[in-house]
Amino acid sequence: MVSKDDFVPGFVPKHTHGSVDYTGIADGHVHQCLDVVSPAIPTQDGSHVHHTEGYVVFEDGHTHFYRATSGPAIPVGNGMHVHYYDFYTTIDDGHRHRVHGVDQPAPGNE
Ligand SMILES: [Fe+2]
Ligand SMILES: [Fe+2]
Repeated sequence: MVSKDDFVPGFVPKHTHGSVDYTGIADGHVHQCLDVVSPAIPTQDGSHVHHTEGYVVFEDGHTHFYRATSGPAIPVGNGMHVHYYDFYTTIDDGHRHRVHGVDQPAPGNE
């Protein structure tokens, strides 16, 4: 049996990642962006990416939609990897927000 903390070499099919982040400031406020990405999508070069879409948390009287694809897997040691993401939300209430960072580590080192 493989537990959550055991080293996992290679690619783990169908895994997802969570993320807890804030958008950048626009129009004097931020939104929380609480996300779970799609299951892993293998790429030609042997890595994988994840798609995601959803709404940032309703704050300052409005929300924003987003749809994005992550970068490739980045190994972070101990059999885990993360992905970088960088995207803009839709324009609502006359402004948009940038969201960028890395998601939570998931099993597999590629
Ligand atoms: Fe991944
Ligand atoms: Fe906003």
